Amino acid sequence: MKFSTLLVSLAIAAGATARRLTVHNACPFTIWPAVYTGSGSGPKTGWEAPAWSSKVIDVPDNWTAGRIWGRRNCDFSKPETQSCAIGACIGGLQCTHPGIPPVTLAEFSLRQADGKDFYDVSLVDGYGLPVRISPSASACHVAECAVDLGPICPAALKGPFDSKGFPLGCKSACLANLDGNPANSPNCCSGHYNTPQTCPSSGVQYYSFFKKNCPNSYAYAYDESSGTALWACGREHNSNYAITFCP
Ligand SMILES: *[C@@H]1O[C@H](CO)[C@@H](O)[C@H](O)[C@H]1NC(C)=O
Repeated sequence: MKFSTLLVSLAIAAGATARRLTVHNACPFTIWPAVYTGSGSGPKTGWEAPAWSSKVIDVPDNWTAGRIWGRRNCDFSKPETQSCAIGACIGGLQCTHPGIPPVTLAEFSLRQADGKDFYDVSLVDGYGLPVRISPSASACHVAECAVDLGPICPAALKGPFDSKGFPLGCKSACLANLDGNPANSPNCCSGHYNTPQTCPSSGVQYYSFFKKNCPNSYAYAYDESSGTALWACGREHNSNYAITFCP
């Protein structure tokens, strides 16, 4: 192979193997975004993001079970699991494990069935920060939870709180263990309730609080039936994605 041909081939290979995520912190305070890859190759990392800053992260073309979340009020001199008031992880600044809920997740599985990208903003593990996923392809839908759910969170779910008593997070009914039986719970879709048929949204306490405030979010374990939880972006778009905290 001629050297010039080799360079062209390498450039094509590189183009086919990476997608670009741009993570914006539009919150008027520092946050610590984290990225975790649940399946296959991809980044496990985290960084300090001052207010109004952005960072570009490249992920594999078929990035699978990827998640991004924003951490709040971090102090990495504390034990890892207590290092942030929201979203703390094993690994410290650079997470090697998923964040501790409640945490709002931007979730991605790229280039799946029919080459489609699937993405969502998940409140299944509760809420920790407002976030928006904006595909670069204008044909593809924005997914977001743009409302600060902390202050308006129902009392039974409210928290954790900052040192001044301000509610930073809002737990899901599952996480708050409202029915006291997480192994067999209609709030957690576990045990006898572990299918879409046996775990309807009507059986999940406070589902409508989350879904009304964040209608384009994934508000419980089987929210796909709402038609406004899981979003797809076709192969032909080869989309990149912006993730904006406090959009
Ligand atoms: C992603 O694509 C690579 C290269 O084709 C492949 O080896 C890998 O198994 C894929 N990962 C997943 C999670 O499907």
